[in-house]
Amino acid sequence: MEVVGSASELRVRLSPSRGRLVGFVPTMGALHEGHLSLVARARRQDEVVVVSIFVNPLQFSQGEDFERYPRPLERDLALLRDAGVDVVFTPRAGDLTPAEAATSVRVRGLTERLEGASRPGHFEGVATIVAKLFNLVAPARAYFGEKDFQQLAVVRRMVRDLDFAVEVVGCPIVREPDGLAMSSRNAYLSPRDRGRALALSSALLEAARDWTGDVEATRTRLRTTLGSAPGVRLDYAEVVDPETLEPLEGVVGTPAHALVAAFLGATRLIDNIRLEHDAADG
Ligand code: PAJ
Repeated sequence: MEVVGSASELRVRLSPSRGRLVGFVPTMGALHEGHLSLVARARRQDEVVVVSIFVNPLQFSQGEDFERYPRPLERDLALLRDAGVDVVFTPRAGDLTPAEAATSVRVRGLTERLEGASRPGHFEGVATIVAKLFNLVAPARAYFGEKDFQQLAVVRRMVRDLDFAVEVVGCPIVREPDGLAMSSRNAYLSPRDRGRALALSSALLEAARDWTGDVEATRTRLRTTLGSAPGVRLDYAEVVDPETLEPLEGVVGTPAHALVAAFLGATRLIDNIRLEHDAADG
């Protein structure tokens, strides 16, 4: 495994790989089984596997956790070595995001709801850095987790709108044995909040189990359950169209998607689940 710290080194390292199938997993590090599931998928189907580790300042706003975001680099590199990764790209702070940059990528519409409404500028930061990484790595396939369901939709939209020659592969959410979606931010939780955080996945799993197509009933139940769960400060609970992420209304016969975001203390967590009539298949 090679670790490269600059864009120019990356180009040199990847030039012999031109013509080979490159699979790419962008991350912010503090890796867990969720990230590693994307890496394993790439390892199974691509010839060259590239992972980036970069805590992207563009996608954090003032007051968010950019400074304290965990950066256990040596541990991450050991995990990636064990996973059979070929190249790890670890750009230095500021290298990928020079202050003089005047260009950014904004995906309209889709980014204005849900996470976008709560975290203004977040998806512009994500889309801009992902576009840059796609240009530097030039992967045939790129792997993203459904954990960040809206991010996956935003990246797909950007790839379509800007004709990136990359296939975006969405991968299922990896959960802790008790149901909590794995996240680098779970490390912030106190033992008490870690217990309380289970309310998110439990409410979603219940919603999926009991889904009859009644959007209003499901949305209300999610809001009531999470609105009264101890220690949980609900940000949003929505039932949306899985493609457009537009809120649904009434009773629907098509698949839908439920997304939630909530604070446990100062830690903001997100989770989501597919709602479909034959949930046993999901
Ligand atoms: P990060 O939060 O490190 O996540 C990297 C990738 O791992 C994302 O595609 C995310 O959806 C996926 N992932 C995280 N937790 C997961 C879980 N429990 N199950 C499955 N996949 C999971 O997302 C980002 O970084 C950044 O926004 C990035 C795309 C790297 C751009 O900066």
